Amino acid sequence: KITPVVLCGGSGTRLWPRSRAVKPKPFLPLVGDQTLFELTLSRAGDTAHFTGPVIVTGVAHLEHVEAQLAGVAGAQIMVEPAARNTAAAIALAALRLPEDAVMLVCPSDHHIGDPAAFQAAALTAAALAEQGWLVAFGIGATGPETGFGYIKQGEAIAEGAFRVERFVEKPDLDTAKRFLAEGGYAWNGGIFALRAGDFLRELGTHRPDILAAVQAAVDAGQADGHRFQPDAALFAAVPSDSIDYAVMEKTDRAAVVPAVMAWSDIGNWAALHEARDQDAQGNSIAAPEAARVELVDCQNVCVETDGPNVSIIGLKDVIVVVDGNDIMVTTADGVQKVGKLFGAANQ
Ligand code: GDD
Ligand code: MG
Repeated sequence: KITPVVLCGGSGTRLWPRSRAVKPKPFLPLVGDQTLFELTLSRAGDTAHFTGPVIVTGVAHLEHVEAQLAGVAGAQIMVEPAARNTAAAIALAALRLPEDAVMLVCPSDHHIGDPAAFQAAALTAAALAEQGWLVAFGIGATGPETGFGYIKQGEAIAEGAFRVERFVEKPDLDTAKRFLAEGGYAWNGGIFALRAGDFLRELGTHRPDILAAVQAAVDAGQADGHRFQPDAALFAAVPSDSIDYAVMEKTDRAAVVPAVMAWSDIGNWAALHEARDQDAQGNSIAAPEAARVELVDCQNVCVETDGPNVSIIGLKDVIVVVDGNDIMVTTADGVQKVGKLFGAANQ
């Protein structure tokens, strides 16, 4: 069976004022009624194929994780005393699992529109991981995004699976444009299938400093029921790097499974608007039932309110968010700057 390893680390400041330090992005029902974290668990919740999940998260998110995990059988939580990025987070889970456990590493804050396609890709990827491949999910690239990893597909190694010819994490804009023009590149979806022992071996080859530091923190760590906490001082000393830079760019055992499914990392309000249901004019509304949202002669407007009524006349391409005492209004051009707003900085 496959072990889901769910990473809960991000804070989602670009989705302020909805996402805040006290209740960040993964724990909000941003698309539909369930939170992104709950949806992540349910995508890998079929007990015919998956074991209980391993959640890797910081102390600050522990309360939300426990609350939203209620009822999930066999869950374990790895509590990070400090955030040391994904290489360390995945190593922490891997060191607590049997060497031959196939891990399905999933970000907890993505939107996946087609759970069946996700599960099919996961099974294909897991079968490759059983053979010692470190498998990434390839997502069809739709633009020269610089915030993603790029995967050049090599020779076929199985049905629906390819060797990775090249993995380039976060290229600059010119390079990203060149990749798209050249063709044969997919975005890295940030979802990986790999055996615990294979990941640790590759990490040890390419970043022995990270492996040794996490190992030391785990050796001195403490288990408490379904929770495990590595030693705080030793974990704080772990070098911070992502799996992408630390392992995927460097290993020659990387494979890619192209996953044809609606996928979004919901990195900003424009992406969230895209992921939501829209009316015939392209407007999306997220509001509690008691709130009245009135859009007259509006097009491509995204409205979110946690209570107050909102009325808008004659606007196009805007985002309006009301949350508690905060109101945030922007166009699609401004969405990348939301995280730098005064309010977002102070949450
Ligand atoms: N537990 C834990 N601890 N989780 C973490 C930590 C950490 O220290 N750091 C990051 N994460 C979680 C985030 O919450 C997110 O769910 C996931 O790991 C990926 O981290 P990001 O910080 O969002 O990475 P990124 O967006 O810059 O890049 C990655 O994802 C892209 C796709 O969204 C890379 O894998 C890219 O190659 C990829 O294209
Ligand atoms: Mg991300």
